Amino acid sequence: MKNSKTDLSQTVVSQSAIDVLLQENRKFPPPADFQKNAWIKDEAIYEKAAKDPEAYWAAWASELQWMKPWKKILDWKPPHAEWFVGGKINASVNCVDRHVFSQTGHHDKRNKAAVIWEGEPGDTRTLTYWDLYREVNQCANVLKKLGIQKGDCVGLYLPLIPELLIACLACARLGAVHSVVFGGFSAESLRDRMNDAQAKLVITADFGWRRGNQIHLKKVTDEALQGVNSVKNVIVVQRSANSGFQCAFQEGRDYWWHQLMKEADSYCEPAETDAEDMLFILYTSGTTGKPKGIVHTTGGYLTGVYATTKWIFDLKDEDVYWCTADIGWITGHSYVIYGPLSNGATVLMYEGAPDWPEKNRFWKLIEKYGVTIFYTAPTAIRAFMKWGNDFPAGCDLSSLRLLGSVGEPINPEAWMWYQEHIGRKKCPVVDTWWQTETGSILISPLPGMTVTKPGSATKPFPGISAEILNEAGERIETGGGYVALTKPWPSMLRTIFNDDERYVKQYWSKWPSKKDVYFAGDGANRDQEGYFWFMGRVDDVMNVAGHRIGTMEVESALVDHPAVAEAAVVGKAHDIKGQAVAAFVTLKSGHKPSEELAKALKEHVAKKIGSIARPEAVLFSADLPKTRSGKIMRRLLRDIAEGKALGDTTTLADPAVVENLKKQYESLES
Ligand code: WT7
Repeated sequence: MKNSKTDLSQTVVSQSAIDVLLQENRKFPPPADFQKNAWIKDEAIYEKAAKDPEAYWAAWASELQWMKPWKKILDWKPPHAEWFVGGKINASVNCVDRHVFSQTGHHDKRNKAAVIWEGEPGDTRTLTYWDLYREVNQCANVLKKLGIQKGDCVGLYLPLIPELLIACLACARLGAVHSVVFGGFSAESLRDRMNDAQAKLVITADFGWRRGNQIHLKKVTDEALQGVNSVKNVIVVQRSANSGFQCAFQEGRDYWWHQLMKEADSYCEPAETDAEDMLFILYTSGTTGKPKGIVHTTGGYLTGVYATTKWIFDLKDEDVYWCTADIGWITGHSYVIYGPLSNGATVLMYEGAPDWPEKNRFWKLIEKYGVTIFYTAPTAIRAFMKWGNDFPAGCDLSSLRLLGSVGEPINPEAWMWYQEHIGRKKCPVVDTWWQTETGSILISPLPGMTVTKPGSATKPFPGISAEILNEAGERIETGGGYVALTKPWPSMLRTIFNDDERYVKQYWSKWPSKKDVYFAGDGANRDQEGYFWFMGRVDDVMNVAGHRIGTMEVESALVDHPAVAEAAVVGKAHDIKGQAVAAFVTLKSGHKPSEELAKALKEHVAKKIGSIARPEAVLFSADLPKTRSGKIMRRLLRDIAEGKALGDTTTLADPAVVENLKKQYESLES
């Protein structure tokens, strides 16, 4: 039903766009006063790290607090790696305890703000490191009392509130595995994830706020858990004490968070977790209908996020650091929780939408809390651009000293706008490339050293071996090809939960003669100076508003509808979101195309997966363009959806099909 073979011609960016990018010749050296105090300003670090990557990573790891030292830095049996073999380390100790008890080389930060949180309606909370320490310990005791042990999986389905971060660290304290599911995902998505990892307990909230609406998470959880036998208990966070909001409770299964916490002891001995014990599972879309449970372990992951947070954000003790991502995504795991907290930073968290109640909410937050480091996504930046310069101009952004971008390639115009209107031309911009699988940022400028170019993520982080390879697996010095990682790195995924075969096949089998080379699924160009220019995915995965959505997943949701015979989904270029979902659908006999049906199908997908996957366009067709061997030609569908001239149609079984579709699409658009 679909073409799963990788093909560079399928990348979302055309050759002409690549040419434009490579002609981008603006360069921005680090601002002098930024450079003066930056952690890293000397290129020599690249060479040093490349000479002996293991020693380099071990030096990073030794900045963390270990319960027992490792015996071996790396055990690499491709494609399976173990880092810091035999070492014992607890992630919650490194994110919390370490900062509240003075010890050599560390200040006592117990009165420093760890988390400054603001809810969408404007309610606020600040947790010092000492507060966080107490809450994490109590929460760990709550989980323990409900029978959670080392190795058990706990599902977290919460709004962006401090309890989500506390719960993650409480799991880590016990050596339990968290599986966070983004609050925008559907009951079915939650159910599948809970079943896959056999979660024993779920923590949710009665509701959360989004654009002034109450999102009923507990209700979705109840629906999801019908059909999950492994979950024995549900803990419910009350989003606000006096809201009067009611939600159903199942006697004996469900408990209020605040009641359990009140009764819990304030100290819980941290588990002596192994460096290779699982820290969390996080699901992400792939090229099949079934999301992959990406497995991250403890020692290597912490080392990677600790190092990259410190150097890429040039993090200092005085900073107020804000990464706008939801903890439901990897960016939130690595750069809201584990990276900044292992560094003892002050983290800002904001629950809601950037345009609520006004389109200046983010700038108001920066002004109010004196944010110094701001990390967000190109899709947000493009929305800010569209909303106009007056919103940021009306707020005092002078506290900012560094800007970051993540989630998709940032177009040079957006980069320039960000640098000028948010950074006031004073802040370095770091465009950071990485993936759920990589755990931490792999390609990025170092802000006190790297000369940046708008639209380029620049160069691999010291100690990271990233290359561009062609179809045959040959190294491309300058030019385009597939992004590959040729050496293991500490924060790499260890496997796909319950599916090691898929792990091997998906990431380590692109080049049969190079079974130790990781295939990222991205296309990129490298310029004369060795800078990487990312071009988007080369597989059937869309990037919608910085979130990965598999075309197959949406197709499966569509064919699940009784009226649909066959479906093909492509990502279509979109001004703000980068890509939007476009669906081509053939109907079963007895069903007729109509606007209502198109609407119903969009709803159906939102209900099955979550609203982030809702197709923007549904087009009905009597047929889909296929090759003679029956493969759907997505490239042509994309051309149609984007209103472009059709590419090569010579391999089609029936060229008339695509001409018809195109005509139909054009009449729809006009
Ligand atoms: C895919 C990973 C990891 C952060 C959030 C997304 C794309 C991510 C960039 C960037 C170009 C980027 C890639 C990658 N991507 N950051 N700075 N420049 N592309 O995580 O959902 O695992 O998606 O996002 O295509 O493969 P994810």
